[in-house]
Amino acid sequence: DDQAPSSSPLKGLRVLVTAGPTQEPLDPVRYLTNHSTGKMGYAIASAAAEFGADVTLVSGPVALTAPDAVDVVRVMTAQDMFDAVADAFPAADITIMAAAVGDFRVAEIAPEKIKKAGRSSITVELVSNPDILAWAGERKRDDGSQILCGFAMETEHLIRNAEKKLTSKYCDMLVANNLRDAGAGFGTDTNVVTVLTSGAEDAGTPKIEHWDKMDKTVLAQRLLLRLAALRSGGAS
Ligand code: CTP
Ligand code: CA
Repeated sequence: DDQAPSSSPLKGLRVLVTAGPTQEPLDPVRYLTNHSTGKMGYAIASAAAEFGADVTLVSGPVALTAPDAVDVVRVMTAQDMFDAVADAFPAADITIMAAAVGDFRVAEIAPEKIKKAGRSSITVELVSNPDILAWAGERKRDDGSQILCGFAMETEHLIRNAEKKLTSKYCDMLVANNLRDAGAGFGTDTNVVTVLTSGAEDAGTPKIEHWDKMDKTVLAQRLLLRLAALRSGGAS
C-alpha cells in the first residue's frame, strides 16, 4: 500500500453484508440450523461502517448486538434472507456474504408439534433453498461497479472447492477457511483464511493467497480495503 491511509476509505459506498446462521422450522417448536455465531459478518459490517460506508447487515438469529450506525435486517430462514438481500443488492456497491445459509429446508413444516408416541423413527424430507450468493452473482452489473465476495468453510479440498465456488457463483473474491485449522471455525475471535480473487476477464486462473491467523476485526478491515480496491479497478 503506497497511498496514505484514509480514515474513511469506503465513504460514499453502500455495503451489504449477510451474517449468522439461518433457522429452518420443522414444527412450531423445532428448527434446523448450524453453528455460525455471526462474528465474522458482524466484524465486517462494523468495520465497513467505521470506514464510512452506508451499511446494511442482513442477519440470521445471533446473540451479538447490532454494530453502531448499521441498518440491521433480522431474518430467520434462508428464504427470508434471500428476500432481504434481493431488496438491498441492486443498490449495493460491495456485497459480502458471510452467512451460513441452510442449504435445505423442511419440505412440509408440521402445523402442530410432532409427537413421539408410537414412533421409533421419523423421516423428514428436505428440499433445497435458493442460493443467495449465486443469485447475486448472476445479476451483478458487469461494468465492475458492483463487487461480490463470498465465504466458504470447508473440511477438505479447500482450494478446489473454493475455486469452484468463486467461479460458479461469479464472485470477485472468495474467502475460504478450513474448519479444522487452529484459530478458525465457529465462534472464534480469530480466523485463518485463504483469499481467492478472480483473474482478469477470461484469464481463468484465480489469484490465491494464504493469510496468517488474525483477529476477525483486522481481517474484516483488510478484506474491505481489498474489495474497495477491486471495485475501483486498482491492484492492491
Ligand atoms: N450461500 C448463499 N446461499 C445459500 C448457500 C450459500 O448465499 N443457499 C453463500 C454463503 O453465504 C457463502 C457461500 O455461498 O458466502 C458459500 O457457502 P457454502 O455453504 O460454503 O457453499 P455451498 O455452495 O452451499 O456448497 P456446500 O455447502 O455444499 O459446500
Ligand atoms: Ca452450504
